[in-house]
Amino acid sequence: MTDRPRKPLKPATQATNSGRRSEWTGAVVNPPVWRASTHLYPDVVALREGLTSNADGRFFYGRRGSPTQWSLADALTEMEPGATGTMLYPSGVAAISCALLAVLKPGDEILIADSSYDPSRSFADVFLKRMEVTAHYYDPLIGADIANLFSDKTRAILLESPGSLSFEVQDVPAICAAARKAGITTLLDNTWATSRFFPALEKGVDISIVAATKYIVGHSDVMLGAATTHDKYWNRLRRTAQQLGQVVSPDDAYLAARGLRTLEVRLRQHESSALTIARWLKEREEVGLVLHPALPDCPGHEIWKRDFLGSSGLFSFELKQGDEASRAAFVDALDLFGIGYSWGGYESLALPVDPAKHRTATEWKGKGALVRLNIGLEDPDDLIADLANAFEHYHGAGS
Ligand SMILES: Cc1ncc(COP(=O)(O)O)c(C=O)c1O
Repeated sequence: MTDRPRKPLKPATQATNSGRRSEWTGAVVNPPVWRASTHLYPDVVALREGLTSNADGRFFYGRRGSPTQWSLADALTEMEPGATGTMLYPSGVAAISCALLAVLKPGDEILIADSSYDPSRSFADVFLKRMEVTAHYYDPLIGADIANLFSDKTRAILLESPGSLSFEVQDVPAICAAARKAGITTLLDNTWATSRFFPALEKGVDISIVAATKYIVGHSDVMLGAATTHDKYWNRLRRTAQQLGQVVSPDDAYLAARGLRTLEVRLRQHESSALTIARWLKEREEVGLVLHPALPDCPGHEIWKRDFLGSSGLFSFELKQGDEASRAAFVDALDLFGIGYSWGGYESLALPVDPAKHRTATEWKGKGALVRLNIGLEDPDDLIADLANAFEHYHGAGS
């Protein structure tokens, strides 16, 4: 939880300065890695005092973190307008699960966007079900009509915008306004945009979650999650994470904080390169829909224009010739794109994806075979040349 007065700084300045309190950095630029399970007290009075104050940002016990973790959490809070505090978790999935556990109890119902990240769905379908919480899935494009799905048991809504794999942009303000009126908590997986491109709490979200594994870390070498919230939910989120024993390694927190310092320049480059490549793909005769929120093909594009401050580097496109062999030939022929799941790093990736497999409330109407691209920080000209070459193999496989 931050105790510094917030200055109206521009995002790049915020990304470089936030969380760097002098009490944590000392005489160096970055708060060092504090490795500790045991925190030592000067005397018994101080030991007792620690128990009663139960304060954040103070030495207490290893699980409560050290200046390395506090600084990162503080920075993420400062970068989310309207936030009171941020909890860190050892992965994005841990952040989603623990935040849901902070607001749900047996007998509750939760509404989940049909386009949500598949492990979020699994957590609801298996774990929450065992807890006697019922998940209902909704059309990500439902907007204010979500109110028609509310029952007196609906306690939470999980949003993800844009959706995983298929990139529908949700009307987050409309959904959150309806939820707030009905006393329902809203949680958003904001991994794609981060608070930089979508200031979630300002748009009405109660708990904003990111897989910091992606853009915050930015270098494909750390798993980390974060959930940021306002006054109403802060204490509950914090206590639940503590009760569930959530703690992040100081080395990982250090690397994430280092990533954060370049977030602004990386996001801008991801945005520009991804847009260049998405527009180039749109001109190719082999390509059907290009599902990039900043392009008109993408469902919810108008909402993206209204609500977002930018777009990041992940999008999907449709190969018209939709057979598996042609798609595999295309992906396998790429040289500069790795084949892998975890995105948001500096290196480009390509992945065959099939949204139809993960839906229950809506039908996936795409006709072709989807490929999801993570556009990294390489020169986009080289990436385009690589994609152009892969189209030759794609034609070969189809003939
Ligand atoms: C949208 C989204 N949310 C959450 C996660 C989970 O993050 P993590 O891999 O850190 O658990 C991912 C991972 O791919 C993701 O794409």
